[in-house]
Amino acid sequence: MTRVVEPRFRPKSRRWPLMYAYLVECGGSSKTTSATSKAVIAAERGYPSTIFDLDSNMSTTKVLGYDETSLKGKKTVLDLIHCTASLDEVALPARYRIADGYGDEAFQTIPNLRVVPSCAAMSSADTAITEDIDRYDWFADVLRSYDGDDDMFFIDFPAGYGRMVYSVIRMLDEDDAVIPSVRADPKDINMIPGLIQELERVREKNRGRRSVPGRPTLKHMLLTGTPTASYKEAAARRATELAEAKYGSVLLPYVRYSADAKKLYEDACPLPVLLPNSVPAVDYRKVMTHLGFTGRT
Ligand SMILES: Nc1ncnc2c1ncn2[C@@H]1O[C@H](COP(=O)(O)OP(=O)(O)OP(=O)(O)O)[C@@H](O)[C@H]1O
Ligand SMILES: [Mg+2]
Repeated sequence: MTRVVEPRFRPKSRRWPLMYAYLVECGGSSKTTSATSKAVIAAERGYPSTIFDLDSNMSTTKVLGYDETSLKGKKTVLDLIHCTASLDEVALPARYRIADGYGDEAFQTIPNLRVVPSCAAMSSADTAITEDIDRYDWFADVLRSYDGDDDMFFIDFPAGYGRMVYSVIRMLDEDDAVIPSVRADPKDINMIPGLIQELERVREKNRGRRSVPGRPTLKHMLLTGTPTASYKEAAARRATELAEAKYGSVLLPYVRYSADAKKLYEDACPLPVLLPNSVPAVDYRKVMTHLGFTGRT
């Protein structure tokens, strides 16, 4: 029997899941850390989810257990763009490393979470879409043919607004959330107006269209690396004040600074699993509670 999915995860009674899109044209802004941490917490709390890695840097893919070696011979998100595989053929069980090697015993699976892996060739996705106009519809096709019972789709984007990004965000509706995850640094905060402008451009372009929702909306903003008792950088404090003044109405609870945050890449393990008691992991759990992912019993 298929699980009955709560209506909040199927806005407007559509057949595909609610989407959280981590997007902002700012390299190293904490998109991947936030996307992977929140997807893992959702899964741990009993909300089955799929996370899409759309970035050729493969950060999400690696943090969730798959590097180039483990992906040999496997399909990736590029196969979805080229229509050479279905979502169920591409999505892999999320996992993390617990020992050396590549056998099954080297990894622990994360229940309730699948990852759609990226690949280095995703850097050519914009060109692939430009060469064949039908490929613009790749993500629309993934959604329209979706028949599963995930609660959520989490989407990790590269730091830019190219054609591939457009092909995805035009499928977002106002119920879905674009969530810029930015570091408490004035340089990151200053990238937000560009995102707002891009979302407006996408909405404007699709106004009146019936075949795609075309309403990506900045619903929440995540501020990470905020000051703590031991981390008192003046720039972080200034950035936090700036974010509060300009974007207070969409700000989620803060994710505080910790030097531990970078360890997820060294150990190829998502932060809430690797260091569940670190301040960012504690804060990401608060954020998920705030967003209504309180846990199922
Ligand atoms: N709460 C935090 N405290 C301190 N450092 C953090 C925190 N969150 C993330 N970082 C650090 O910020 C850096 C960038 O993070 P991340 O890779 O998640 O960003 P990104 O936006 O996905 O980057 P890219 O554009 O390269 O994909 C990493 O070194 C990460 O460890
Ligand atoms: Mg990233």
